[in-house]
Amino acid sequence: MTAFPQSIHFIGTNTPRRVELSIRNLLVEGEIPAAIEGAFFRAVPDNAHAPMFDDDVALNADGMIARFNFERGAVDYDIRYVETERYLAEKAARRALFGRYRNPFTDDPSVEGMDRTLANTTPVWHAGRLFMTKEDGRAYEIDPHSLATAGKWDYDGKLRSETFTAHPRVDPVTGEMFFFGYEAGGLCDPNVAFCIADADGNLIKEQWFEQPYVSTIHDFVITEKYAIFPIFPTLTDLERLKAGGPHWAHRQDLESWVGIMPRYGKAGEIKWIKGPVGVSVFHEVNAYDDGDLVHIDLCLSTTNAFAFMREAGGINVPQQEIGGGLTRWTIDMSKDEPTLEEKPIGPPGDLPRIADKDQGRPYRATWYLSMNPQGGPPMPGGPVGANFNALIRFEPGNGRVELMGVPPGAAISEPVHVPSVQPDHEGWLLSVIDMPNHPDPSQQIPGDYSSELWVVDAGNIAAGPVAKVKTGLALRSQVHGSWVSRERLNNSALKA
Ligand SMILES: [Fe+2]
Repeated sequence: MTAFPQSIHFIGTNTPRRVELSIRNLLVEGEIPAAIEGAFFRAVPDNAHAPMFDDDVALNADGMIARFNFERGAVDYDIRYVETERYLAEKAARRALFGRYRNPFTDDPSVEGMDRTLANTTPVWHAGRLFMTKEDGRAYEIDPHSLATAGKWDYDGKLRSETFTAHPRVDPVTGEMFFFGYEAGGLCDPNVAFCIADADGNLIKEQWFEQPYVSTIHDFVITEKYAIFPIFPTLTDLERLKAGGPHWAHRQDLESWVGIMPRYGKAGEIKWIKGPVGVSVFHEVNAYDDGDLVHIDLCLSTTNAFAFMREAGGINVPQQEIGGGLTRWTIDMSKDEPTLEEKPIGPPGDLPRIADKDQGRPYRATWYLSMNPQGGPPMPGGPVGANFNALIRFEPGNGRVELMGVPPGAAISEPVHVPSVQPDHEGWLLSVIDMPNHPDPSQQIPGDYSSELWVVDAGNIAAGPVAKVKTGLALRSQVHGSWVSRERLNNSALKA
């Protein structure tokens, strides 16, 4: 086995763990609230093999599907590789065959033309099925009970798009899943596919449109009336890829854009509205209609948050000097040529969550991760190389901010939200915290930590966890997660 590089993509919480396992009855401190019955699925990129190139990035690791299963106050843990075509080919060869992140021109000739997707970004639940997704390919269906890979998902051959976003949006009232795929026709294709799957999981609409430039569209938003595609100037280039270079390079000199179309309308009705120059967003919090106005809340930064995408664009801004914060874009759709008004609304941070019932609607609160400067230096790891160390609860209606820190040197992962059965209770958040094994920050060694899952009252995060679930393991950083209730698991398409 070749050694792993010692860059930020392979140390700290990015240390490759490469273990498939199951543990029954994890140690629980405190009491798990009775409302928490179901599964917290997590997407964990973890390299099965050392990479072909030493400058490889954390986003280029094999997807693993992990599950914390909550059953009558007990918690079990399981994690397995998603058996993508790529994973199986490399498993057979006992080495990496696929080269740089999203660059097929750097692959071993033996895998030419093979699907490169890693299914490592978000577990998505819709219409009784669990999928693992990554935006450069189609989703893989996962058996939610055994975590076995069931196969690639194309809606019974109906889906034309070669890609499927890691950030679909499910309407809480209609049960429809709105989703898209960019580079829909293949590498560097400017086409975006916009699709709707009905509440039963049938693909009922797919239409294609061209984006202003071929950028990474990581997330999008819906309202009750519109589908909204915010687009930021991180661009790909076929010639650069053919020369073995990076897929993405940020452009500080180009405008951002918002494409808005009626969500049940035609792609030809899309209106393109110019946004600020040089900014970057990976995640939108939510959007909603307010009469003719549309409000879009985004985790905005002044440049791209990924160092390797900045460097590819010749941008030399250290991570800690990136500005930005939670930002609201408001657009008056009654105008013939709508414009965008921007206002800062909350502290900087990313990985936002809302209650599923609030999707595309006015919402009381969002929860997202941030950096508490009083918390000491961050634990290395995570997709951008430095982990968050604080959880924020933010109310967009009145600007109220609450914060929950973690112990010095600890890292916090994106939470999931579990609804409460009581109408006056905001529910619960579940989040994995990586706790350094040495309490003294000066003695801490990156990668030497124990992962535990915290259960937090979503309406009172400042009070800290009401229960902690100890894994006894150092888990590799997750990207996104999803909560699936016991009722939904019991009614899954694939049976236990
Ligand atoms: Fe994401």
